[in-house]
Amino acid sequence: MTQTGKISRRSFIRNAGLATAAIAIRATNKSTGEEPAPEDGRPINIGVIGTGSRGQTIMRNVVRMNNINILAVCDVYPEHLKMGQRMARKAEAFDDYRKLLEMKDIEAVLVITPQYQHAEISIAALDAGKHVFCEKCMAFSIEEAKNMVLAVRRTKKFLQVGHQRRYNPLYLKALQHIQTEVIGPKEHPITAIRCQWNTNSDWRSFVPDPKWEKLLNWRLYSDLSGGLMAEFGSHQVDVADWFLGAHPVAVSGVGQLMFYKDGRDVWDHINALIEYPNGVTMNYTSVLTNGYDGVGEQFMGPYGTISLSLGYPLGTGNLAFEIGKKQPVWVKLAHAQEVEGRTVVTLITGKKYIAGAEKDAQEKIGAEGEKNDIVYEFEGFFKSLREGTPPVADVVVGYRDTVTVCKINEAIAKQTRIVLDPALYEV
Ligand SMILES: NC(=O)c1ccc[n+]([C@@H]2O[C@H](COP(=O)([O-])OP(=O)(O)OC[C@H]3O[C@@H](n4cnc5c(N)ncnc54)[C@H](O)[C@@H]3O)[C@@H](O)[C@H]2O)c1
Repeated sequence: MTQTGKISRRSFIRNAGLATAAIAIRATNKSTGEEPAPEDGRPINIGVIGTGSRGQTIMRNVVRMNNINILAVCDVYPEHLKMGQRMARKAEAFDDYRKLLEMKDIEAVLVITPQYQHAEISIAALDAGKHVFCEKCMAFSIEEAKNMVLAVRRTKKFLQVGHQRRYNPLYLKALQHIQTEVIGPKEHPITAIRCQWNTNSDWRSFVPDPKWEKLLNWRLYSDLSGGLMAEFGSHQVDVADWFLGAHPVAVSGVGQLMFYKDGRDVWDHINALIEYPNGVTMNYTSVLTNGYDGVGEQFMGPYGTISLSLGYPLGTGNLAFEIGKKQPVWVKLAHAQEVEGRTVVTLITGKKYIAGAEKDAQEKIGAEGEKNDIVYEFEGFFKSLREGTPPVADVVVGYRDTVTVCKINEAIAKQTRIVLDPALYEV
């Protein structure tokens, strides 16, 4: 039975992440972000380069996967190296990644270093005969990204880039609904996109001695980091390209260092206008001074809106629909709300039960659940290695995303609108 309640349309979209109508898609251990181990496969030996914040989060999940052995860890910051060793107790420890790459038993390496190190380390790893998982934004410049593509082609190894949304059932489900004309007809499935990544954070890491400042706070310096667009926007630009099956035709924007005047030189506020073919625009906002609206992507079509986000703790997130003309069958079973005369449905992950909905609605949406993003993307990576099939988020995905990120930053810096030659996305 459909349940109805009256709320305003704006507050529905804004509060999608908090809405009470819920369908479980996934659940995770909220206290640790850890996941049950996936099914067996042939053993794979890996090395982890960069055991800082993200490296540790990834290792916490990967050490629980069956038949994945972390044989070595590497970090140039001693405290982080110690943390890495603590998580993979049998691993050899290095402060020079070239030594790790000499280990013959290692089949793949995870490059989880700062953005400015990705290309150098990934190319060295590929040339050493290793498969690579490299975090996003894949490279610091378009030229570096191109060299990474060439290295993959030269070595015939795989490189998967850390765009975990491409492996997430929530996002796959949203794409399926876009492709089946739930929010718009085939010729105009999406007419406009809004994305935001807002947070109350100074983005600073604790530095025990000023000599470590640039190593640990690399994000704050434009010679080492692409700032908000590379750290946050990279994910969302990639989702837009993926869902539209297209790349931007022009970019422009504004960036300011407005608040955190502490020696950094990356913007703490950005607003970008990303123009896609056929007049589709994406409005992008990211601010570090106010977390209002959090993180999310809204895909708008003539029939309705899909609102997506990945939340914290790991594994939570939501997929909300504002349905116009066409309703998938499960909508009738799920908790729905009347908002200004239109039917809207919200699906939230990380919850076991559907509030007030028929039990089989949960099955209809596909309760693949029980995992978080990192597990999904690494299951994908290890499956690629075991089966010899290229990754979904491959080096070309990483290249194209790097192009857009770099061009938006360039447009903001030059205070101009840059028209993008489609050839730029060919590699
Ligand atoms: N996919 C995601 O959702 C996601 C989330 C967070 C971070 N990231 C990405 O992960 C990467 C790392 O981010 P982080 O937050 O862990 O940063 P971090 O500063 O916490 O960790 C980076 C680590 O790399 C080490 N390092 C630097 N140069 C090195 C080298 N030459 N050899 C070995 N180690 C080296 C540093 O000492 C540090 O410990 C970035 O590219 C970031 O964008 C991705």
